[in-house]
Amino acid sequence: MKWPSLTFEQIRLRVLEALEKNKSFREHAPLGIPGTFLDQQIFPHHPFLEQAPFLKTLVENPNHIGCHTFGDSERFFEGTQELEREVIKICAEQIMKGESYDGHVCSGGTEGNIQGVWMGRNYFQERYGVQASEIALIYTADAHYSASKAVNLLGLHPLLIEVDRESRELSLEHLASSIEQAQERGIEHFIVFLTMGTTMFGSVDDVEAVIKILKLKKANFRVHIDAAFGGFIYPFTMPDQKMNFELPEIQSIVLDAHKMLQAPYGTGIFLCRKGGLNSIIASDASYVSGLDSTLCGSRSGANAIAIWMILNIYGGQGGIAFCQQLVAKSLWFCQQLEARGIRYFHQEGMNIITLYAEDIDREVALKFDLVPKCHGDRNKWWKVVVMEHVSKERLEAFLSQISALSPRI
Ligand SMILES: Cc1ncc(COP(=O)(O)O)c(C=O)c1O
Repeated sequence: MKWPSLTFEQIRLRVLEALEKNKSFREHAPLGIPGTFLDQQIFPHHPFLEQAPFLKTLVENPNHIGCHTFGDSERFFEGTQELEREVIKICAEQIMKGESYDGHVCSGGTEGNIQGVWMGRNYFQERYGVQASEIALIYTADAHYSASKAVNLLGLHPLLIEVDRESRELSLEHLASSIEQAQERGIEHFIVFLTMGTTMFGSVDDVEAVIKILKLKKANFRVHIDAAFGGFIYPFTMPDQKMNFELPEIQSIVLDAHKMLQAPYGTGIFLCRKGGLNSIIASDASYVSGLDSTLCGSRSGANAIAIWMILNIYGGQGGIAFCQQLVAKSLWFCQQLEARGIRYFHQEGMNIITLYAEDIDREVALKFDLVPKCHGDRNKWWKVVVMEHVSKERLEAFLSQISALSPRI
């Protein structure tokens, strides 16, 4: 994590310079772009925008359609595309230890996960001439629901793997037997969907153990990593973690800047190995310069700028310090729970603490806006996500009420 930290003024000037290199709708009045010069009654140009580079980019409304790490791109927006390339470089090289990669900013974890699985499906179809239903998606009971969306959209065979109630680790026995059963049904190709920071528990799948089982079963497989939640914390707090491009089986990874990086919504980051996008490139997108190898098509360049600005105001070391203080606050909260006899799950290096629902009063959980695993009386877990805005004082207020009300005290 070695990229430097810049001042806000340096960042502002760099973004304005990038916008200068774009063709603005206002100044160049391009005749052929189907892009949008924003409505001038609602979005008039205002001098204060010079001080607010993200808002200025929003109002300039560059369209970052396509992927800008290979081939051609729309020349109208090359200034801000360059900053998007810098975002991809930091995420792929410094955070996910990749050397040769492609990537783009997408709408978020859901889209990035579907794109990763789509890429895997098309690869197997093209390479081995198999049907979608002959390809399995392996995912765990704690995986985000975008995994089952991908199964549904892409017509794959689902292999849902159980997790242990206490440790939240996926069952390697169940994984092995599920692969065997699928193989008996003639399924030979597997896309493996693993998570760095599950939505409800923040748990991190053991990628090496999973790969070992797949190899043992002589399965033909590719791995996609959902780091939507964990991508901007776990690699910062656990530098030796293994879920990154150093493992050759990992083909694609998605991170969400609109979670731990505190960016506006619409700031997912899709990364894959160089060449991986060949299987999904839309060769019929002939009006787009460089064609289109994304799921979303048109997308706002302002999202890439928001990510670029946050990454650069912190720098790599600032990012580590930010994440470490969240984990320290999480550990303090865990100690407080322990002192009160309240059971919880916490993954080392993460900032999600998930409490056993039996141990706390439902009214208190609702009063403090904890999120349940499922809404209604069947709920077994409540989660606390220790973000920047979650102060120790607020956690203390919550603790004081569960101490008084908990049936286990
Ligand atoms: C682990 C994980 N993956 C994917 C997603 C989906 O992200 P988005 O809502 O940005 O599509 C979430 C959202 O909470 C998540 O926690």
